[in-house]
Amino acid sequence: MASKLDIGEMYKNYVAGVGGNSRSKNAAMATAIGGEFEAFGIIEREMLKHYGLGTDSYLIDIGCGSGRLAMPLAEIQSLKYLGTDIVPSLVEHARAIVKRPDWAFKLVDTLAIPEKDGVADMVCFFSVVTHLLHEQSYIYLEEARRVLKPGGLIVLSFLEFNMAFHWNVFEATVKDARGANQHPLNVFIERNALAAWAAHLHLDVVDIRSGDEAFVPLPQPLTMEDGRVMEGLATWGSLFACCANLLPE
Ligand SMILES: C[S@@+](CC[C@H](N)C(=O)[O-])C[C@H]1O[C@@H](n2cnc3c(N)ncnc32)[C@H](O)[C@@H]1O
Repeated sequence: MASKLDIGEMYKNYVAGVGGNSRSKNAAMATAIGGEFEAFGIIEREMLKHYGLGTDSYLIDIGCGSGRLAMPLAEIQSLKYLGTDIVPSLVEHARAIVKRPDWAFKLVDTLAIPEKDGVADMVCFFSVVTHLLHEQSYIYLEEARRVLKPGGLIVLSFLEFNMAFHWNVFEATVKDARGANQHPLNVFIERNALAAWAAHLHLDVVDIRSGDEAFVPLPQPLTMEDGRVMEGLATWGSLFACCANLLPE
């Protein structure tokens, strides 16, 4: 299990390019992971709570980026956390702003999750498998299952053609493929692929949500970067949750 991440190079190059156009380091670090740093971080946290993240849970956040999710989670004193990413500047930034010396932020360069078997309550991939080949996502799911306790949950966000508003992401990626820009690769995943991966990995599908289905209760109204206020129920892309119900083989 030491697959090198060629595709990670695309993300690294993208992050390196973002810095030059941004007003400040914080702005660059937010842009590098898709923006909406505060609002989406809170939505991600509330999503995980909705899926059962407890105050004493152990969460592994794959592709933690610059700390969008870790920031709002940091107020939960007894939560245990490991964040991993392939881009050094993002990992360093997350570690610096989150200020939880008891938490681990690790740089990775393979698809292995740097943790022992059967220890985590939840593994999340927010906007991460959207940048990987299907085969790489499958390896990551295999790894996630390995590090989960029996009954632990994997939560991942994905892009699908079924969602009309994901089309602009595809169009932008088509432009990139013509050589227009240098964004990270965006990969769509159809639900039958997720179902097949879960079946082959002996994971039970617990939930699957469309990106336009608001289902996460917000604790407070959230102001987006364009000034819109989100309140009540929120969502964040299409969501897939599966459970390691079976004992590891
Ligand atoms: C769109 S950002 C999302 C960041 C974070 N999950 C969030 O929601 O704020 C995608 C992140 O995935 C990371 N990434 C890309 N490929 C990865 C891989 N193979 N392993 C770990 N992280 C990866 C990128 O460096 C980047 O930080």
